[in-house]
Amino acid sequence: LGGSRSIVHKVLFMQLSFVIAVCTDGWKVSVVESLDALVSSCVVLPCTFSHPHENLPTSKLRGKWHVTSDRDQLIYYEDSTRVLENFRGRTKLLGKLGDGNCTLEMIEVKEHDSGPFCFRIEIARTPTDTSTPDKFSFVKNCVTLNMIHEPPKPSLAHKIPVEGYPFTITCSVTHTCPSHIPKLTWSRGSENEITEHHRKLQLGMWETQSILTFIPKEDDDHKDVTCTAEFNGQRTSEETMTLFVKRAVNYNHIIIPTVVAIITAGIFGGLCIFMMKKYKKRINELQSQDGTMWNRMSRISRR
Ligand SMILES: *[C@@H]1O[C@H](CO)[C@@H](O)[C@H](O)[C@H]1NC(C)=O
Repeated sequence: LGGSRSIVHKVLFMQLSFVIAVCTDGWKVSVVESLDALVSSCVVLPCTFSHPHENLPTSKLRGKWHVTSDRDQLIYYEDSTRVLENFRGRTKLLGKLGDGNCTLEMIEVKEHDSGPFCFRIEIARTPTDTSTPDKFSFVKNCVTLNMIHEPPKPSLAHKIPVEGYPFTITCSVTHTCPSHIPKLTWSRGSENEITEHHRKLQLGMWETQSILTFIPKEDDDHKDVTCTAEFNGQRTSEETMTLFVKRAVNYNHIIIPTVVAIITAGIFGGLCIFMMKKYKKRINELQSQDGTMWNRMSRISRR
């Protein structure tokens, strides 16, 4: 008996899921469930949707972003007078609804803006039905914002700087506001030494990069290099590194003293030999003189 009951349950469940699948067929909203947002800066909530009606223009679609608990508490709507005062003028739909894009920008992010916020798409059932705006179909999905109070620090990546060779430092910072990218600046370097890159990471996260290339000199040793990130809303953070410049591979410090030593030794050696020769000659002369003198003396004594 228990077995047959579970079969009945299974069949019921299958039918139910089938109904849900049919109902949701063609209707889909995809958003990032949770996203970091820097207080007093901006955040972009990525959002796309699809609906079963083909190629509806933006004019036939109405997009709303609302607070999760109450779909009449709008944080974005095309008629701004219906938007909560708190959010009025701070939200903007960046995406084109006609393209199935419901991406929302929020500026001057406040402490209490954590949401969750939900997107709701309203659509006229048939093109002839536009006169009856009460009849809407909708789907919704929600995003929660994690408030960040301190801007993330940029990270610096580099190899060992070698004197006289091109040296590269990469400064990267992640953010969630691709509509107002953080500005990265360096404590040194001119425009032609700096290149910038911007890329999507995932789930509404972006990375902006600045690459500084220069040729370190001897006096750059122990100097600091700072990369500053300025986020929208004048929030800044920075990271500093100290250059420990490796001396270029150069044997002059060995070759020059060696050559000097060899030359000096040569000169001294030459001098010695010259002096020795000179004195030998003199000694020989003296010896021969002695000899003659000795001879003479011995001759005298014999006498
Ligand atoms: C949606 O619109 C935003 C803002 O214009 C854009 O950056 C993003 O790439 C669009 N998303 C898709 C999936 O087209």
